[in-house]
Amino acid sequence: MNGEVVLVTGAAKRVGSAIVRELHAAGARVIIHYRSAASAADALASELNALRPDSAACVQADLLDIGGLPQLIDAAVSHFGRLDALVNNASSFFATPLGSIDETAWNDLVGSNLKAPLFLTQAAAAQLIAARGAVVNITDIHAERPLAGYPLYCIAKAGLLGLTRALAIELAPAVRVNAVAPGPILWPDDGAFPGDERQHIVDHTLLKREGSPDDIARAVRFLLADAPYVTGQVINVDGGRSAHL
Ligand SMILES: NC(=O)c1ccc[n+]([C@@H]2O[C@H](COP(=O)([O-])OP(=O)(O)OC[C@H]3O[C@@H](n4cnc5c(N)ncnc54)[C@H](OP(=O)(O)O)[C@@H]3O)[C@@H](O)[C@H]2O)c1
Repeated sequence: MNGEVVLVTGAAKRVGSAIVRELHAAGARVIIHYRSAASAADALASELNALRPDSAACVQADLLDIGGLPQLIDAAVSHFGRLDALVNNASSFFATPLGSIDETAWNDLVGSNLKAPLFLTQAAAAQLIAARGAVVNITDIHAERPLAGYPLYCIAKAGLLGLTRALAIELAPAVRVNAVAPGPILWPDDGAFPGDERQHIVDHTLLKREGSPDDIARAVRFLLADAPYVTGQVINVDGGRSAHL
């Protein structure tokens, strides 16, 4: 990716950090966005800068603060003087069974998974157009077939899938916009999904195993670096689970 500059949101840990490592290994300079995981973000940037000087930087922001998103893009651009790509990876994820839903949950789940990607892409649009760049949104296979107990998260991801297609139209022909939809990759840290539920989900993949963050990262790298004639599309990286959900 030859020095191209990529901003990855929610990138300090887990899947986001794998995306950052993959793009960096492909030659990109990376902006690691984080909200609360400052030490993990700093450690990741130090690791990558040790491999290639001045190739990684961090920016902090709560993406629910929509008014602050233009400053987030300005801060990202000021590090390396350009912005070629944006990966909307940050997400909150928790159950919202019907009857328990309140506006706080709506604002958090729809805010991080849908509203922020829209306003962040809008804020970055001029830079991305100038660079003839690209956007990848990280959705979920449950954007198309909702997961029981998680209606807000699923409709937010469904919106993000729709946003991917709408932005592909709005930003064409200069900027390509695609999505990667993970299946079971990393279980949540909060203990959601007891062991038997996990096994049931894994048994329902065609490949009979969980994926890894690197599987998602490789798909993102493909869409950013190796797919110049692909826009408005989604790649399901799910061991075949969505083929028969
Ligand atoms: N893990 C899976 O198996 C799986 C399956 C399907 C889809 N996905 C999707 O893949 C992506 C990565 O998954 P993941 O499990 O690695 O995600 P994650 O760990 O649940 O979340 C990634 C990061 O999002 C950031 N974040 C959340 N709310 C934020 C906010 N309001 N403002 C700024 N940052 C915020 C957090 O940053 P801080 O820690 O810095 O606060 C967090 O580290 C997500 O879009 C997820 O929906 C994952």
